[in-house]
This record gives sequence, C-alpha cells and structure tokens, in this order.
Amino acid sequence: MHSRPELPQPLLAVDGVTLQYKTTDHLVTATYRVDFEVLPSDRYILLGPSGCGKSTLLKAIGGYMAPVEGEIRLKGKKVTEPGPDRMMVFQEFDQLLPWKTVKQNVAFALTASGRANGAEATDRAHHYIEKVGLAKFADSFPHMLSGGMKQRVSIARGMAMEPDILLMDEPFAALDALTRRKMQDELLQLWDDTRFTVIFVTHSIEEAIRVGTRILLLSPHPGQVKAELNSIAPDEIGTPSQAKLEARINDMLFAK
Ligand SMILES: Nc1ncnc2c1ncn2[C@@H]1O[C@H](COP(=O)(O)OP(=O)(O)OP(=O)(O)O)[C@@H](O)[C@H]1O
Ligand SMILES: [Mg+2]
Repeated sequence: MHSRPELPQPLLAVDGVTLQYKTTDHLVTATYRVDFEVLPSDRYILLGPSGCGKSTLLKAIGGYMAPVEGEIRLKGKKVTEPGPDRMMVFQEFDQLLPWKTVKQNVAFALTASGRANGAEATDRAHHYIEKVGLAKFADSFPHMLSGGMKQRVSIARGMAMEPDILLMDEPFAALDALTRRKMQDELLQLWDDTRFTVIFVTHSIEEAIRVGTRILLLSPHPGQVKAELNSIAPDEIGTPSQAKLEARINDMLFAK
C-alpha cells in the first residue's frame, strides 16, 4: 500500500462522550455521544442554545468531570484530571485574587502550579500582561480595573501557563457590545502572534463566525452534534459570505 498524505494528529479527541449529572432525585443527561476533534492551532467553537451542555463539555475537557460513556484524549492520553495543560477562562469577571495585583495574579498561577518560579515567573507574567495591553496596570489591583480589563488579565493568566489548549467559556458574554467586539479582535491578534489552540464556547452565531476557524453545532438539551462547519476567513467578515454562513447556521440550529 502506498501512504496517504499525513493528516495532522488531533490535539484533542472527544469520542462518544455522554455527560450526566446525578442529583438526589434524578439524572440529567447534559450531552449525548458527542464526537469531535481539535487540531493544533484551531480556534474551535462550541455553539448551541442555553442548556445544551457547552459548559459541561468544557468541564469534562478540563478534567473536572468524567464521561459516563466515551473518552476524551489529549495528545492521545486519556483525560482523567485537571492539569496545567488545559487552562480555563470563564465568563465571570471575578476570577482573580482580589488581594493580588495584576502581575501577582498571573505569576501566582505559574508558581502555584510549578510551571515557573522566581524571576522566570515574573518575566513570563509581564510578557503576557504586555500582550493583552495591560503593562500600565501590572501593579493595579483587580478592583481598579473594568470588566474587560479583568478578562484580559484572566486571558493573560491562562496564556502565561502556555497550556496545550485554552478553554474559554463565553469569556466576553458579560461585556458591552463595543468592548466585546474589541476583545474578539484582540484575541485574533493574540492568536496571530502565538497560534495557540483554543476551544471557545458561545451562543452567539456572530461571535462564533468572527472568532472561530471551525464551529461545532450542538442540538438543544441533551447536546448532540448537529454539524461541524468551517468558519470564514477574517477578511471575509462583513462580506456576503458572513451573512450566508450566519443564515445557514441559523437554519441548522432551529431546524427540527
Ligand atoms: N451542577 C449541575 N447539576 C445538575 N444539572 C446540571 C448542573 N450543571 C448543569 N446542569 C444541567 O446540564 C445541562 C447542560 O448545562 P450546561 O451548563 O452545560 O449548558 P450550557 O450549554 O453551558 O448553557 P448556557 O449557554 O446557558 O451556559 C442543563 O440541562 C443543566 O440544567
Ligand atoms: Mg454555559
């Protein structure tokens, strides 16, 4: 047999994953047999209506919850617990330690996890704080920052850990529309710089198209894969291709 052109190995494989919550009186199935693969440098979007299990999937990838069926593998190795190779950025603005400065917050994540120590941790913290445009605020405390700035710190903290995958759960959902747009553009710039791999959860079709390279559409509760689509290139934003893709996703999400 002659060899086929090599496909890139998936960084993350989600394989037939069913996730459930057991409460005292009932069982909630959050996702049902979900399959997808994330390749290195993907900006991979999980898109679906409220309650379809997006956050639950992210928790399972983070290693905070085990599938009842199926398996999640990072670089071929089964995910069984949280680790610094997967960093999470949440929607809430209060993810930072209020008694530490911006720089201390970022450096603390590095030292506490053993990722870096001493001067190396401080240097790395500074590097990523600069990347998110907060060099002037390195010595400020979280209460002195706006919501958008706090989210930038959370992103810098996640990136400073140099994880295999950054997991972002609606990180911009609580921001005003203008700041949200600005943060989306900044994230794309940051990606141009470092080509990190990110899984990004949203229920905004517009945000999915703007931020993502690939989009996984999930059906309403319990979440099942409806489709996986390629997004459009950033320079096609604002062209008819964007409207066309939006309409297509809209139809698929609301189709029975
Ligand atoms: N701790 C929990 N205990 C029991 N059920 C839960 C728990 N967390 C979530 N669920 C249920 O699991 C399902 C999926 O929830 P999940 O938070 O993953 O949805 P989501 O897609 O992130 O929604 P949203 O867009 O509103 O954030 C929902 O039916 C929800 O009620
Ligand atoms: Mg959620």
